[in-house]
Amino acid sequence: MADPEKSIATGIIISNREIFKDHFLMILRVPADFRASVPGQFVMLRREEGDHPFLGRPFSIHSLYSMNGETVMEILYRISGMGTALIARLTADDRVTILGPLGRGFDVPVGKKKIVLVAGGMGIAPLFYLAEYCLEERRGELGETVLYFGAQSSHHLFGLDRLERLCSSLKLSTDDGTFGYHGPVTDLVAGDALSFERNDSTLFACGPYGMIKEMARIAEKFSIPCQVSVEEKMACGIGACLGCAVRASGENTSKRFMRVCKEGPVFDTREIDWNWREG
Ligand SMILES: Cc1cc2nc3c(=O)[nH]c(=O)nc-3n(C[C@H](O)[C@H](O)[C@H](O)COP(=O)(O)OP(=O)(O)OC[C@H]3O[C@@H](n4cnc5c(N)ncnc54)[C@H](O)[C@@H]3O)c2cc1C
Ligand code: FES
Repeated sequence: MADPEKSIATGIIISNREIFKDHFLMILRVPADFRASVPGQFVMLRREEGDHPFLGRPFSIHSLYSMNGETVMEILYRISGMGTALIARLTADDRVTILGPLGRGFDVPVGKKKIVLVAGGMGIAPLFYLAEYCLEERRGELGETVLYFGAQSSHHLFGLDRLERLCSSLKLSTDDGTFGYHGPVTDLVAGDALSFERNDSTLFACGPYGMIKEMARIAEKFSIPCQVSVEEKMACGIGACLGCAVRASGENTSKRFMRVCKEGPVFDTREIDWNWREG
């Protein structure tokens, strides 16, 4: 069997639908090899037609399942530049080149009573797949899965109906106060953190840099282990160009820098020097 870390494959688009202004859900057929992926891993995706842009763009696997004997992957994305704008124009039966699954995914410890997922905006993309995994692959072994999901406005709280089925409870917030708590989602987590059993809970977070940095602070303050999915600009996606390096923390004595695409994108918050962007 091909090494799944390095396989370049063709995906065939089933649908690529705009779910809110500039936000899309792509559903595509992929080779069965992708069943080897774990939540938190990503793919480098580019259009098969045309030379522009030359490099693929990294996207988290949002969902993965079998349908009529075929392997189906979902990608949730927003237009943030030229590459994603071109991907948004693709329609059913168009082909994309996908490299993956790539990187290190989330590591769900055995037998935890509480799995706490914290998503900021598009950070819901990999956490949705993690919620699916906890329910479908680890059912009975784990305790409850609680999702804290914060977004710009109520329109950006994507997939709530599906998330309600996957998670034991949802705690929602919006920046503009149009739904749930009015303010950052990390306020909600910090407010509840004292009630989390520190030996029996694990935090998993994905979102903008400021949010995951705040999650690192909360995790340290309440002594709860926390894994975060980090985003950096990527060129190769396979560890060769060093373009995605982040600084390792002093605790991580074996390395000064870590490649988000190879050693990540998921890291324990203690592995990272959280001043890497400022200094
Ligand atoms: C591991 C990983 C997983 C990702 N998963 C998703 C996902 O599931 N859904 C999604 O919408 N996006 C995701 N992203 C971000 C996505 O890859 C970028 O939005 C995309 O590459 C932008 O390409 P572009 O050509 O449209 O924009 P560009 O023209 O390349 O850039 C446009 C703007 O986006 C910023 N940008 C570019 N790349 C990144 C990045 N990696 N992180 C933060 N800002 C960036 C640039 O600074 C610029 O302001 C992920 C990134 C990584 C590293
Ligand atoms: S993107 Fe090239 S090393 Fe990470």
